[in-house]
Amino acid sequence: MTRVPDTSMYEQLFSQAARRVAHQTSILVDLPNEKPDTISLAFGDADPSIFPTHQITASVSGLLSENVDAIMNYAPADARLHALVTQRLEARGVEVNPAQLMITYGSSQVLGLLPQILIEPGDTIIVEGPTFLGAVEYFAASGARIETIPVGPEGMDIDALASCLADLKSQNVRPKFIYTIPTFQNPTGTLMPASARARLVALAAEHGVLVVEDDAYGDLHFKPHTAPSMLTLPGNEWVLHIGTFSKILAPGVRMAWAYGPPAVMKRLRAFKSESDCGTFVTRLVSHMAQDGWLERHIQSLRSHYATKSAAMVQAIAEHFPADVRTNVPEGGFFVYGYLPHDLPAVALNNVAIRHGASFLPGTTGYANGQGTHEMRIAFSFQTVPNLVKGIASIGSAMREMRQTNN
Ligand SMILES: Cc1ncc(COP(=O)(O)O)c(C=O)c1O
Repeated sequence: MTRVPDTSMYEQLFSQAARRVAHQTSILVDLPNEKPDTISLAFGDADPSIFPTHQITASVSGLLSENVDAIMNYAPADARLHALVTQRLEARGVEVNPAQLMITYGSSQVLGLLPQILIEPGDTIIVEGPTFLGAVEYFAASGARIETIPVGPEGMDIDALASCLADLKSQNVRPKFIYTIPTFQNPTGTLMPASARARLVALAAEHGVLVVEDDAYGDLHFKPHTAPSMLTLPGNEWVLHIGTFSKILAPGVRMAWAYGPPAVMKRLRAFKSESDCGTFVTRLVSHMAQDGWLERHIQSLRSHYATKSAAMVQAIAEHFPADVRTNVPEGGFFVYGYLPHDLPAVALNNVAIRHGASFLPGTTGYANGQGTHEMRIAFSFQTVPNLVKGIASIGSAMREMRQTNN
């Protein structure tokens, strides 16, 4: 008979970081089980109805009839994918040095590598509050001391950042990096204006702190905007830019890129232990993008997601009480809401699930337990009729909670 081992017998084997992960409570712990027919507005999955199935099938069969030996063996990432990312960065005004570009398995891979190259337990990093929950988990596992800067209607509050940096300096603390999602931020959907970006990069340069610009949603604007990539601003030698094909092609291809200072890229490459990304998948993405197909696809994504966002904003106006304040996004995947004191997000979510829909409570976006009266509502995944139904269900949960409390 197989003996079921006592898991504590492995404990001594683990590194400090791995032990920390085991003791860390997941920030998703507040999420209750949903019924199978719950309309989930919690997660920012891509809309499967616009996956480019035809283009994927055509590209895969085209590639398999090309040279299977060359694309299936150990070999560098396809040079045409480097060229594509270079071209897209150049179109945004970045002067690209190819040696500073790295193709990765998702931008999550870079977020996972960053603590390995930059953080010793107790080191300080700075994040937005709220921010991307995946990043909070990766960074917290490293044992970093996390400073949280509030996000206002125009993204990270740069005055608060300036006083945080000054404060840390007075304690002789040099933070390792500032993690920011300036364009259609996850979860608030906010767009940081050009002037704030310039101030942020200048402050980073003044204090000798790396800026990690996560640009996951940068291409998904609903109308043109002029906010530049931080890679184009004075002080850009402190900027590490991360982009991904997850939101503009499909998360399943897990292709992304990092572009930053040579010294940082050298360390990232050293810790990316599988070396380059696979030839097959990198060739697939570059094949799909050819002849302008990707840019046309992105155009159609913009109008598709703009329609969904508008439907959600309108449904909110119809179904939520007037004292629930929500951001109206100009791009990305999310509407963010600020709840009055009698509607705490976790309790509301439990009631909403009984009414048939769910959202993501705000606490999941903070490393410090804030966000108890905030909510992220994703419009990316569900169909328009379901979005509207989901918002109506959350609205009726709000009214029910108020009636019960009175
Ligand atoms: C801000 C942000 N960064 C990174 C990611 C992860 O992207 P990838 O699929 O490239 O790992 C996400 C996905 O939700 C995100 O919202």
